[in-house]
Amino acid sequence: MSKTVVANAYGGPEVLEVIDEDLPAPGPGQVVVEMRAIGVNPIDYKLYSGAFGADPAQLPVRPGIEGSGVVVEVGDGTDVRVGEEVILYSGVGAYAERVLVSAGDVLPKPESVPWDSAAGLLVAGGTAVDALTVTRVGEGDVVVVQGAAGGVGELVVQLAAARGAIVVGVARERHHDFLRGLGATPVEPGDGLPERIREIAPDGVDAVIDTVGTDDVVDASLALGADRDRIVTIVAVERAQRDGFLWIGGGNENSDRIRREARPVLVEMAGHGGLNVAVGTRFPLAEAADAHRALRKPHARGKFVLVP
Ligand SMILES: NC(=O)c1ccc[n+]([C@@H]2O[C@H](COP(=O)([O-])OP(=O)(O)OC[C@H]3O[C@@H](n4cnc5c(N)ncnc54)[C@H](OP(=O)(O)O)[C@@H]3O)[C@@H](O)[C@H]2O)c1
Repeated sequence: MSKTVVANAYGGPEVLEVIDEDLPAPGPGQVVVEMRAIGVNPIDYKLYSGAFGADPAQLPVRPGIEGSGVVVEVGDGTDVRVGEEVILYSGVGAYAERVLVSAGDVLPKPESVPWDSAAGLLVAGGTAVDALTVTRVGEGDVVVVQGAAGGVGELVVQLAAARGAIVVGVARERHHDFLRGLGATPVEPGDGLPERIREIAPDGVDAVIDTVGTDDVVDASLALGADRDRIVTIVAVERAQRDGFLWIGGGNENSDRIRREARPVLVEMAGHGGLNVAVGTRFPLAEAADAHRALRKPHARGKFVLVP
């Protein structure tokens, strides 16, 4: 039996319920992971909120893309061992005590990476690598990161700095010391943002990565004057289509490939201390609805994690 969180209807966090599920034995090439921590991402609630449609045939929605845990069962034909500590990218259904996945969906967890950080690494990290890849950020580029202290933003900042870029991180004042610690120059959002950034980067901006997506943030991003094929949003798809700049998202073939290839690299970087996921609030698995309520409001910095 495994306690699993599902949504049997579309709506707010109140539709989430915890069910007891029998997991089948792993088939060839499959493994069962007993979860230690589960990463909470905004997409988890968007999927049952109706934001991406409300087709009754798609119910129940099984939230949860990623986490960390210990392999407790293995099917035939895999090198993964029982007892191995892993980071998993299940794509779906990770809000559970135990998860059945393909052996190809797990990577060995470096001992130095705590369970909680490991659980929040792959979705935000893969998105960050995708954003930096499509905007071709490299050595010496000036890159502006909107929402720099968020789950995706903090990894964009770290990975951009690791590429040798000069990083300007847009975030509220309370996050500024944190961003300086990651190697970014912090700047306050809101009215007058383009002027403040021009003071920091008088020779101009090469690329902009937007993880916020509101109209005012998009307007400020465009006003910085970078080429539009070096401005990307991970949220404001309609604005990108209308204004001729880039957007990225899962389900796109190019993005899926970039993110899949990035996963082992992210794990290796985290294992060597070159990448850190700031962990915020931990919630018991059964309180996933509370985690989603909190994530939808302004919240403290750091990745939310569910603990079975
Ligand atoms: N396209 C994709 O593949 C993809 C992948 C992952 C995530 N996403 C989407 O990307 C968004 C961000 O995800 P996340 O996990 O990073 O969320 P998150 O951890 O909640 O981060 C959002 C950040 O934006 C900041 N922020 C809000 N308004 C701002 C403003 N006007 N200027 C500067 N910063 C501002 C917030 O700061 P405060 O806390 O101070 O308000 C917070 O740090 C979500 O909508 C998510 O669904 C898309």
